[in-house]
Amino acid sequence: MTDNRDDLLFYHAYEEFYAMTARSEAFRAFCRDAFGRDFSQDGFSDIAQINRILPYIPVGDDVHLLDVGCGNAKMLGYLQERTGAFIHGFDYSAHAIADARVRFPNRADFREGIIGEIEYPDAAFDVIISMDSMYFAKDMTAFVGQVRRWLKPGGVLFVGYQEGDVMPRTRNADTTELAKALAENRMTYEVTDITGETYELLRTKRTAAIRHRDALVKEGYSGWVDLLMLQTECSEESYELFARKMARYIYVVSDV
Ligand SMILES: C[S@@+](CC[C@H](N)C(=O)[O-])C[C@H]1O[C@@H](n2cnc3c(N)ncnc32)[C@H](O)[C@@H]1O
Repeated sequence: MTDNRDDLLFYHAYEEFYAMTARSEAFRAFCRDAFGRDFSQDGFSDIAQINRILPYIPVGDDVHLLDVGCGNAKMLGYLQERTGAFIHGFDYSAHAIADARVRFPNRADFREGIIGEIEYPDAAFDVIISMDSMYFAKDMTAFVGQVRRWLKPGGVLFVGYQEGDVMPRTRNADTTELAKALAENRMTYEVTDITGETYELLRTKRTAAIRHRDALVKEGYSGWVDLLMLQTECSEESYELFARKMARYIYVVSDV
């Protein structure tokens, strides 16, 4: 990995986050409550969003999934449990990758790596997942080009993509930075706007944060409680105001 980790957005925050998720029983309980299943979420992917990936995973012994920014790989572990696929993931967090290797030792390959720097062979994967990680590509068009090469012919890229926090809100799903990067790589997509679901999810997340606050504080994680409250503050507004500032989309992308 690059020696300039300080230059990478949120690098130290994610190292701390994954050290916390490995230790905290209260955070696991919070995730189950907020998202329907504990995937150590820092993003916005609940079990309903992850189940949307399942129909795109082919059946067979030689099926390979890659998760970009896989964290401790709990999402991949779930997808493997449901499909039997070989799972691959990379993340810049050393804590997360060490945890993933212990948790999911079978039919799995986890690497420490940076979006835009790590390389995989061409035509290696049936499905590539990027849930709330595309934003961290320094050059999204170039990274989408890499992903396109890594997909087998007929393979699918599945992306959970949010606007209004890391990325600025644009007009609609066809004007996002991701849509531009896909167009530049001549990749076509189907998109579902899940902004409404996300508003409800953030409200549930806020209620769960309040419910698990004391347990988190007792474990010494009051800083995470503050962050959860800040992340979900926008769900206190009306949906109309929320949707003016935030949007969330699921893109299902193929190159045919
Ligand atoms: C918002 S979290 C999403 C995690 C997970 N995919 C999910 O949906 O819950 C972003 C993830 O990308 C990783 N990440 C952020 N920037 C990265 C980079 N430049 N290279 C590799 N991984 C990165 C973080 O460590 C974290 O696991």
